Order: sequence, then structure tokens, then C-alpha cells
Amino acid sequence: MKVGILTGGGDCPGLNAVIRAAVRKGCFHYEDEFVGFLEGWRGVMEDKAVPLDLSVVAGILPRGGTILRTSRTNPAKKPNGLEQCIATLKKNGIDALIAIGGDDTLTVASKLYGKGFNVVGVPKTIDNDLAGTDYTFGFDTAVNVVMEAIDRVHTTAEAHNRVMVVEVMGRDAGWIAIHSGIAGGADVILIPEKPFDIDEVADTIRQRHSRGRYFSIVVVAEGAKFSPSSSGDGSAVSMDGDKDEFGHARLGGIGNILAKELEKRTGFETRTVVLGHIQRGGTPTAFDRVLATRYGLGAIDMVHRGEFGRMAALRGNKIISIPLQEAISKNRTVDQEMMDVASGILEKLNDEKLVNK
Ligand code: F6P
Repeated sequence: MKVGILTGGGDCPGLNAVIRAAVRKGCFHYEDEFVGFLEGWRGVMEDKAVPLDLSVVAGILPRGGTILRTSRTNPAKKPNGLEQCIATLKKNGIDALIAIGGDDTLTVASKLYGKGFNVVGVPKTIDNDLAGTDYTFGFDTAVNVVMEAIDRVHTTAEAHNRVMVVEVMGRDAGWIAIHSGIAGGADVILIPEKPFDIDEVADTIRQRHSRGRYFSIVVVAEGAKFSPSSSGDGSAVSMDGDKDEFGHARLGGIGNILAKELEKRTGFETRTVVLGHIQRGGTPTAFDRVLATRYGLGAIDMVHRGEFGRMAALRGNKIISIPLQEAISKNRTVDQEMMDVASGILEKLNDEKLVNK
């Protein structure tokens, strides 16, 4: 078969491992031929196609980013964009397309499938917020990067008696914040799922410092929101008014606002670290390399089983296939169990018993 591959949306450590695995299994076991479309859906719309063979994928396993590059192009927003995609795929003789991406990329994949094209999806996002799968690749790498940063921030916070606010990615879900916060021993973790009251956060820090601690680490997801009691209007802090082609605002800035408000309320010197795209760059962890490899193998097997309009997913420790529709119908937000893990080790707000202990 002739199989097309593209990577769309924000990049993510492990993309190259998926491409490599699909191409290797396709060449070694199915005698497939591969074509890569550059820069996500833009490459399909504009017919930017390159041959993908064993030599092209050699040595890419540990490399971050994506050899196919990526974009947030949304063909559904362009006049006849989806028809243009199908025309390019037909022109290149593509029998099936493997789309590696998050909910935006996979929503387009699902639309193309609705128009009769053979599409298989692979779940990708460092945010880990795609429904239907237990983990997306890239998440583990991002969490490890943040954990290491929190470890480093700890020592400087301790040396200066400071509160350090660490802003991490996570637009709609706080998976990175909660996992890295737990792994890094943060004192406060703020996630988009639970709008926070700024006075309660300040109280928690004051309470901790009244027990003899002289520094604190606050991890905040970029999508975290002030609660109505803190005059929050339900929206996340964004850099500017700009939106991408899928309608998402560029988030960022909550860390600095939070630091200023905490310093004002507690009197403790506070600094902010914004980790930004450092979380998305660099080599994938072993876990992500293995998971991405399994997704790549799963996707090419699905192509040969004719399981189109579906996505490779991890459930428990098995790679299965689920309808694309299930993955894109909603975001997978942080569940109660993980929130309980975090609250089990974090200080209770306003707990008088803890004060002066
Ligand atoms: O891919 C998801 C994500 O990493 C979000 O956490 C973040 O809000 C966004 O991408 C940033 O996107 P960009 O690279 O376009 O600035």
C-alpha cells in the first residue's frame, strides 16, 4: 500500500519515533511505500510531499521535534480545504493516511474520513488531554523536564527564602502540573479544572511559613483560572488577543500575575519561572520512545486491517483501536483520583491544627 504520514499541531517528543516505527514495520512486514506530508495539514493542502523510506527514518528515534515539521493549519477553515486535501492525497496515489496529532489534527482527520478517505489517527500532545487513551506520548518527557526544573527551583527558593511560581503548559487540563507537582514536591498545584481563590493560596503559603518553612513552590498550569471569589471571569490568562486557526488563544502570563498577587498578600519575596516550549523540546524519555513506537506499529497494523476512522489508543497496557470520534468528542481532564493524590500530600487549606506545628 502507499501510506501517507503527517504530524500536526504543537510538536511533541516522540513524533519521530512514531514515524520511524510505522515506516519500519510497513517496509519490513507489509512492503508498503510511504510519503510524508510536510507541516501538518498545510502540506496536504499545498501538496508538499516527500518520500519516506528506511534511510530517511534512520537515526531519528532520539530526536525531538518532527522530521515532517508541523503547523496548526486547519483545512476546514479554508474554502474547499478538505476537498483540496483529498485531491492531493489522490494525486499522490495515497491509499491511507496516518495523522499524528491532538484533538485539532484528529478532528480534521475525522472530517476527511467522513468524506470517504482512509484515515488512521495517532494521539499526540504533551498535555495528555486526549480522550479515549490513558496516555499520549510526549507527556512523560514534559513531566520529567518540569520535575527537573522544580528540583532546581527548590534549591534556589530555599537559599533565598522565596516563593517560586513555576508556570507550565496545559491549556484545558492540568496533567503536566499535577504530575510534575507531585513528582517535584510542590507545595501548591493549580490546574485549569479547579479555579482557585487567591486569598486561599496566600493563606496556604502563610500557614506553611508559620510552621517554620521559609520557602514555597507553586506549580500553575497556564490554563488555570482565578475563581469568581477572586474576581475571575472564568477565562484563562492569554498573551494577546490572537487565536490560531482552531480558535485557541495563546495562553501564558498567569505565573507573573500570581506571583505579584502572592507577594502582595503574604509579604514573601516571590519569583516566577515560565517553562514554556522547553517542555516540548528535546529528546523523548524511554517511556515515550516505547509508547510512540507502539503507537506507530499500532497505526500501520490498523491500516492493514482496514480499521479506518479510528485511532490507536493505550488502555491499561494494551494498544487498541477506538473511533476517532471518541477521542475528539471531549477533553480528558484531571480525574478525581489524581486530585486526591495531590490533596493527600498537600497542606490543607485553613487547617488550624497545622498552624504552629
Ligand atoms: O500542544 C499543546 C500546547 O503545548 C499547549 O499546552 C500550549 O498552550 C500550546 O501547545 C502552545 O502552542 P504554541 O506552540 O502554538 O505556542
